[in-house]
Order: sequence, then C-alpha cells, then structure tokens
Amino acid sequence: MKIGIVGGTGREGRGLAVRWAKAGHDVFIGSRQAEKGAAKAAELSEELSVRIRGADNLTACKEAEVIIVTVPYGAHRATFESIKDDVGEKIIVDITVPLAPPKVRSVSLPEGDAAALEARALLPEGTRLVAGLHHISSQHLSDPNHTFDCDVLVCGDDKEARATVISLISDLGLRGVDAGVLKNAIALESMTPVLLHINRHYEIIGSGLRITGIPETE
Ligand SMILES: NC(=O)c1ccc[n+]([C@@H]2O[C@H](COP(=O)([O-])OP(=O)(O)OC[C@H]3O[C@@H](n4cnc5c(N)ncnc54)[C@H](OP(=O)(O)O)[C@@H]3O)[C@@H](O)[C@H]2O)c1
Repeated sequence: MKIGIVGGTGREGRGLAVRWAKAGHDVFIGSRQAEKGAAKAAELSEELSVRIRGADNLTACKEAEVIIVTVPYGAHRATFESIKDDVGEKIIVDITVPLAPPKVRSVSLPEGDAAALEARALLPEGTRLVAGLHHISSQHLSDPNHTFDCDVLVCGDDKEARATVISLISDLGLRGVDAGVLKNAIALESMTPVLLHINRHYEIIGSGLRITGIPETE
C-alpha cells in the first residue's frame, strides 16, 4: 500500500516508515521542507536497506493511499489546515497526543476534547479519519529487534477504514484492536500521559496496553 507520513521526519515517523517499508509498503516521508523529507528518506533508505521516498507534506498526501499524521500537538491545527484539501477519499490516521508540556504525565483535554475530534472539525465532511498508535513508543518502533507485546487501539467513524488501519498495524508487528467511534479518541489520547507516568515511576521505556479476552482468530 502507498503510505504517506506527514511529519515523517520525526521520531514516530522514523520507526513507522522503516517497519512499513520492510513489510513491503511504498512509504513516502513528508516534511514542511521538501529537502528535509527527501534527505530523511535517503538517509533511512541507505542506513536500513529499504526504499523510502520523501519530499514535502503535500506530495506525501498526493502520493499516498493512506496518510499518517505524526506531528506534535502544537503543530496539529496548522498541519491539518495545510493538508485538508489534499486528503480526498483517502484514509487519514491521526496519532497526535495533546500533551501540555511540561505536565506531560497529566491528562490534558484540548478545547475540542481530543486532537482527533479537532482534526475532524477541520477536514471536509466525510473524510475517513482514524486515530491510533498513541501508545507506541518511537524508541521501540525504531528498534528492529524489539518485539511488541502490547496492542494498538484504533478508533474512527468508518468501520472499513478502521479495518484497513488495523491491517497496516499488523505489518508493524503489532495487534490492532477495533476501539469504536472517533469520539473514543478522548479515551485513547488520554491514556498516553498515564503511560508516561508509569514509564517514569517504574523507570522503564514504552509501557503499553494489552486488551485481554479477544479470541485468537480475530
Ligand atoms: N514519540 C513517541 O514516542 C510518540 C508515541 C506515541 C504518539 N506520539 C505522538 O506522535 C506525534 C509525533 O511525535 P514525534 O515524537 O514523532 O514528534 P517530533 O519528532 O517532535 O516531530 C515530528 C515532526 O513534526 C514536525 N514538526 C515539529 N514541530 C512542528 C511545528 N511546530 N509545526 C509543524 N510541524 C512540526 C517536524 O517535521 P518537519 O520539520 O520535517 O516538518 C517533525 O519532524 C505527537 O503528536 C506525539 O504525541 C509520539
């Protein structure tokens, strides 16, 4: 599948791009600056023996069938404003956590209750918006030897779009779990500060969530 990563030059972008490229997807890294996106793609391609392309965020959106947005919350509104006319029928995945530095271990509900709900309000009616990957550490994603034992909760108002994203998540080496409508992003985004607290308290990296009771066949 063609995957465009908006803000793909960052920490989450790196791990996602490399894992998906290794799984056979056609990955395109986007940046606010085309040269930065191209340079990051060239660097990762050479370093990790994968084929990743890169340029500006709009080109990443145009090239993609599925768009992933990986930018800090402070850049969230401006980023969605800048790409909203280039999303069309494509699935767009928002992984943003609305952290409020320096209190990143305390839940901070944004004005629109969740970053993903704020994104929905900015996007054209009917855009297939999904939210997920809020609990997956960039350090673990970027470590090719790391095996995940946690789940990725995925929400969105379009059931088929959720299923497509869950399938892409399995190509990262993770189990995606259908977590219902986009409004549930309030709960998903809110869990990240809790996990950040757990990391600090137990002096660990990348604590995660595991949902029990789902049959193996799912
Ligand atoms: N890091 C994690 O472990 C982790 C885990 C789960 C979820 N998340 C969430 O994933 C998102 C991305 O996290 P990250 O750690 O990958 O972020 P990051 O590395 O700090 O930034 C990602 C990219 O966003 C762009 N960006 C940064 N500041 C910007 C600004 N002011 N305006 C516009 N674009 C800006 C930059 O790309 P260009 O300069 O190339 O445009 C940057 O490379 C965040 O919302 C975070 O909460 C992170």
